[in-house]
Amino acid sequence: MSPTADRTTEERPPWLLKPPVHLAIIMDGNGRWAKKRLLPRVAGHRQGAQAVRKTVSACRAWGVRYLTLYAFSWENWKRSRPEVDALMALLEDYLDGEESLMKEKAIRFRTIGNRSRLPLSVLKRIEAVEESTRAGEAMDLILALSYSGREEILAAVRRFGEDVRAGRVPPDRLSEEDFDRYLDTAGTPPPDLLIRTSGEHRISNFLLWQIAYTELYFDPVLWPDFGEENLKRALMDYQERQRRFGAEGDIHSGDHGREAEKV
Ligand code: FPP
Repeated sequence: MSPTADRTTEERPPWLLKPPVHLAIIMDGNGRWAKKRLLPRVAGHRQGAQAVRKTVSACRAWGVRYLTLYAFSWENWKRSRPEVDALMALLEDYLDGEESLMKEKAIRFRTIGNRSRLPLSVLKRIEAVEESTRAGEAMDLILALSYSGREEILAAVRRFGEDVRAGRVPPDRLSEEDFDRYLDTAGTPPPDLLIRTSGEHRISNFLLWQIAYTELYFDPVLWPDFGEENLKRALMDYQERQRRFGAEGDIHSGDHGREAEKV
């Protein structure tokens, strides 16, 4: 197979009729996975990184166009220094190990979140991989790092305020579409499906603005054990759902109710 063919070919399985354009995942349960095995928490994160690899690969093969993974929340900075250091090291390992595959598979890598607290070495790796995968057109892999949904909204409001003060935009005609452009996720459609693992039923400050009409799916599996079968069940469940965005009848993913009457 020529390299060009490999970059564009998808192996979309027959059961998958309508993959979500944008899938977001709250990867939870690494610590509990390790605890059950009497292992240190970092062992759970290490296995969690393996589950990330499998998930990215399946999403790429199955035609998910955008995949956003909650890899490190703003609140995660409160964890012990050794755990934070281990997570940062795993992230660097991941980028080192996956960069060439991302390029080969035309996966564009980027992050959302507040980069100011990230260690310089991690920041440099992120910037390098963002640059080297910039041309990827098959899938966007977006890691939420040092991320808080509320902080993202506040930062957007501040940026909007600056534009108003500078006279670049009128203060009284801000639409939802205008506001989208101030968010870290500018240019990315909102998630169609959000999966959270480990049996918790919370949003935990993830993509608060963007998930207004997102379908939610909760899987009791601990993240390190999340595999293709779990992803398949979630996608099957998703494609059975009727998305109405507050209006009557079925509206397909992509317009997120922008055209629909919201009630
Ligand atoms: C939640 O488990 C998970 C995290 C805080 C981080 C997710 C990190 C990974 C999956 C590994 C590294 C990521 C990449 C992209 C290489 P938890 O520790 O909160 O679990 P618990 O609730 O059972 O304690």
